Amino acid sequence: MKLSTQHLLGIKDLQPEDISLILSTAEQFKDVLQRPVKKVPSLRDVTIVNLFFENSTRTRMSFELAERRLSADTLNFTASASSVAKGETMLDTVNNILSMKVDMVVMRHSASGAPHFLAKHINAAIVNAGDGINEHPTQALLDAFSMREKTGRLQGLKVAIIGDIMHSRVALSNIYLLNKMGAEVTVAGPPTLIPKYIEQALNVRVEYNVKKALQWCDVANVLRIQLERQNQPLFSSLREYSLAYGINRRLLESLGKEIVVMHPGPINRGVELDSDVADGPSSIILNQVENGVAVRMAVLYLLANREN
Ligand code: NCD
Repeated sequence: MKLSTQHLLGIKDLQPEDISLILSTAEQFKDVLQRPVKKVPSLRDVTIVNLFFENSTRTRMSFELAERRLSADTLNFTASASSVAKGETMLDTVNNILSMKVDMVVMRHSASGAPHFLAKHINAAIVNAGDGINEHPTQALLDAFSMREKTGRLQGLKVAIIGDIMHSRVALSNIYLLNKMGAEVTVAGPPTLIPKYIEQALNVRVEYNVKKALQWCDVANVLRIQLERQNQPLFSSLREYSLAYGINRRLLESLGKEIVVMHPGPINRGVELDSDVADGPSSIILNQVENGVAVRMAVLYLLANREN
């Protein structure tokens, strides 16, 4: 089976069959990663450039590791250490890199739509590693993989996405994916951080009371407040946010049922999530990180394979 798209720009463009294919391929790669020899020759002779125009820890390391495990040749580019700082345009930078015969580009950029722009101008396969407040497709795929691994299903699963929905590319990609795979989604958080008309636009429920959202859900995906993307205050203080919307052990225990807690990282401990929850038995946060490598291997492998 092959993917229906040449690039992975967003979950919005994928068919449910594409998502199932990526998740099942990732399961095979997860098995490979349990072996003593974790490397496979699948992408030998494929050259991948990691273009990071915006800060990243987990996502970048996860892509780099996935590429190495697949035996690809890789190049790393960090905008702050490059000629972008000397005024070169993104397209010039990328064309220069591509003239060195690069097959795939993994790209993170603070401008929404940057990878889509690039896809119109170059031939290499592009993987969006996060574009502004638009999408972060591999995060949604690894979240789905981790939810399915823990609960056994996506169809009919009740997922609450909690926090800064407005500025979160993780939220948008998760909503697209969960809708396509038959899960139910509620978004929860302060009214100022939830886009107006999101119910109709994206087919989700909205809940302003976090406890009610937690009582409803099987899985809570908790997001960071993206202060760097807010140019005006949208709530009074982090302390008040934490009091009204933060998740701590006492709140979880008051639900009278078990739920799964997720977070894409980086966590602001004591704000959206307390340490006793982040490090507690309900949390699958480190499983998400582990699964990220297998899921990114699957994406790179399937996109490279499509071109053969
Ligand atoms: C997220 C991101 O950068 O979009 N982190 C990640 O990739 N794991 C979420 C965030 O920054 O809060």
